[in-house]
Amino acid sequence: MTILAIDQGTTSSRAILFDADLSVLKVAQQEFTQHYPASGWVEHDPEDLWRTTLESCEAVLDGVAPPAALGITNQRETVVIWDRDTGEAIHNAIVWQDRRTADFCAELREAGHEAEVTARSGLLLDPYFTATKAKWLLDQVPGARERAKAGKLAAGTIDSFLIWRLTEGRVHATDATNAARTMLYNIDTGAWDEELCRLFDVPVEMLPEVRDCNAEFGECRLFGTAIPILGVAGDQQAATMGQACFRPGMMKSTYGTGCFALLNTGATRVASQNRLLTTVGYQIDGKVTYALEGSIFVAGAVVQWLRDGLKIIGAAPETQALAEAADPGQRVIIVPAFTGLGAPYWRPEARGAVFGLTRNSGPAELARAALESVGFQTRDLAEAMRADWAASGAEAELATLRVDGGMSASDFAMQSLADILGAPVDRPDVLETTALGVAWLAGNGEGMLPDAEGFAERWSLERRFEPQLDADAREQRYAAWQRAVKATIAAG
Ligand code: G3P
Repeated sequence: MTILAIDQGTTSSRAILFDADLSVLKVAQQEFTQHYPASGWVEHDPEDLWRTTLESCEAVLDGVAPPAALGITNQRETVVIWDRDTGEAIHNAIVWQDRRTADFCAELREAGHEAEVTARSGLLLDPYFTATKAKWLLDQVPGARERAKAGKLAAGTIDSFLIWRLTEGRVHATDATNAARTMLYNIDTGAWDEELCRLFDVPVEMLPEVRDCNAEFGECRLFGTAIPILGVAGDQQAATMGQACFRPGMMKSTYGTGCFALLNTGATRVASQNRLLTTVGYQIDGKVTYALEGSIFVAGAVVQWLRDGLKIIGAAPETQALAEAADPGQRVIIVPAFTGLGAPYWRPEARGAVFGLTRNSGPAELARAALESVGFQTRDLAEAMRADWAASGAEAELATLRVDGGMSASDFAMQSLADILGAPVDRPDVLETTALGVAWLAGNGEGMLPDAEGFAERWSLERRFEPQLDADAREQRYAAWQRAVKATIAAG
């Protein structure tokens, strides 16, 4: 028996087939075009998301027995609005990285709405989240508001759109983790929030039904047989489950396009004093587990910039060797605020900067600075999490940070992360944690796989990175990073 996991991400769609032991049997992946119609705008063609997802599924299912269940994990916050009759999107999807609603968010903040928005949604007033993007679509696409009022349009994050397409329009649903990223969902009541829907002018009738991560999401009949969809979670929450961070105080950090650190806070909703987000970590069998989240917009994307922008590497894995060759006497710092700064700064208007250049600075110093920028940003998040965790009166100790995602494969990046954190970093054997999280949900729902405790016992460590830098050097470097961020914000 097998389980199919769909991982619809920001730059590619993937299908991963797992066996009953959760070993990866087959993977198919397709990249798709990113659209940048204006500065700070990022869009995806929903048909590209659908086609690449479908073709990846077909590729892994070719020649094998149909899977027993299907799980979906996805880039979060990105919004699609589509016609309920035709299933056609009314516009490109507006991607989580898109900053076009920054002014509107600033207006709402100036008008004093942030505290209320945070109290209800756990989020901050930033263009990152779905609500203002959905409003933009309704306001800007001719006729959209009228069609929405007439009940003709459906809205949702990418999971909802895929569920709709996979079930051929029979199911319009989402899970609590994706709902929690829209800024329209009340994380206390576990329902769409009428006040927030009014504030952001998004009709609640357009929104999907919110279910548990391990609920039934209908059947997909597109692959020759009916496959139940039994697990759905936003990609960062799926990785939290895939890393078996099931106990309060456990923390994971995933290094994909961006970096997203989540700390399990259990049944308690911890309010951040340090501009982190409070979100749903997962919701299983009706029980909500909350998390604190730090979201950084550029992690792996800084390596893509070395490759595609500066063209100083041909492929991402070359970065490590180049960084190792950097002059230890130079301290070049890159603040990769290409699409603004996320947690804990939340400055959508900031743009990237490089500090400390000399006549001798070259590709090696830039490569090292790029990898180190990820460690510095993670330290910013870790500091904020530590402070919030202590202030919450939590009894559990913070556990060692578990890492995953493409960039966690770089020993250099993970060692420099441990050095700058001054704390160990654990890398598991299985780095496919995002897909693994929903494969586990779906397989558990199907009765093939154990509960959370049994699943957690299978988590295994590949390597622990211990800090090697002395405390003085570490704090000097971190202080230099903090000065660089300040200067970047001041210049923005
Ligand atoms: O919040 C955005 C996040 O879900 C995107 O993740 O892996 O597609 O960069 P990823």
